[in-house]
Amino acid sequence: MEKKRILSGMRPTGKLHLGNYEGALKNWVALQDEYQMFTMIADWHALTTEYIRAQPELHELIEEVAIDYLAAGLDPDKCAIFVQSDVKEHAELHLLFSMITPTPWLIRNPTVKEQARDLGLIEKDEEITSINYGLLGYPVLQAADILIYKADAVPVGEDQVPHIELTRQIARRFNYLYGKEVFPEPEALLTKVARVPGLDGKKMSKSQGNVIYLSDSPDIIRDKIKTMFTDPLKVYRTDPGDPEVRGCPAFAYHKIYNTSETEQIETDCKQAKLGCVDCKQLLAERLVEALQPIRDRRAAIEANPKLVGDVLEKGEEEAEEVAKATMNEVRHVMGLEH
Ligand code: TRP
Repeated sequence: MEKKRILSGMRPTGKLHLGNYEGALKNWVALQDEYQMFTMIADWHALTTEYIRAQPELHELIEEVAIDYLAAGLDPDKCAIFVQSDVKEHAELHLLFSMITPTPWLIRNPTVKEQARDLGLIEKDEEITSINYGLLGYPVLQAADILIYKADAVPVGEDQVPHIELTRQIARRFNYLYGKEVFPEPEALLTKVARVPGLDGKKMSKSQGNVIYLSDSPDIIRDKIKTMFTDPLKVYRTDPGDPEVRGCPAFAYHKIYNTSETEQIETDCKQAKLGCVDCKQLLAERLVEALQPIRDRRAAIEANPKLVGDVLEKGEEEAEEVAKATMNEVRHVMGLEH
């Protein structure tokens, strides 16, 4: 049987951190054996919010993200890794989809509203019509990203589900209007992922300054872990902690990176036998060990300066072949051939 096809993507707005890895990338690496994978660096999507030249420049971020993808274990022999703007057909399909997408489908998207609020662009949901056209319409571009490969599934987090629902609606409407089943309706692949909090216990996010990057050296990881928040009611070693109940971020990390000792740590913390400094020191060593394979792959990638360019070129070719075939079909049913 033919392998099912997946399209995945991330916006290159910064180097990737542990939240990106545990929340998405690790899952993609696991999926690449089972599915035919297309993995995109969504640079046009990055411009929906960072259209004034991002620092560092976008092309540098694209390169960093590509290295992060490879270091995390995406294998270019199993997975086409490419840059969205290298495959211009995405823009054409986006344009054509914009003709058949009613504005209310965009205005009600809760994820876009939340993003606009987080960015300080709007205060109230009703103001959503005042944002830039590109930001309001990016889920249509995302639908084009997905449908141009006729993907069966898209691995995403909860926040992206409205976009996948829109993608399905656009596919359905297109097929109905042009009288042909051109597009499948892709599924959201929601996998249960471990939640890695930021150093302060809040959501890990570059803008919060609470992140551990995949590219951080062991010493930087050790320094960052030293600053990590712990159970606020455990000030001294002799104070009994309650890491699970009080949401200790260090404990959340132990549960991911130090599974064999988690139980003992919880017991010792609660019985005031283990202090936070020692607990975090242990954690830092486990995390450094867990990320060693990623560091090893990164070193090999960086030793070969041609590699990233070659990978992205190969990915572009593979993506383009499928994208061009889909566009021929789309132009045909829409009467755009001449
Ligand atoms: N909107 C996604 C995000 O912010 C990125 C993205 C763009 C994407 N195109 C995609 C994700 C296609 C999955 C499929 O994370």
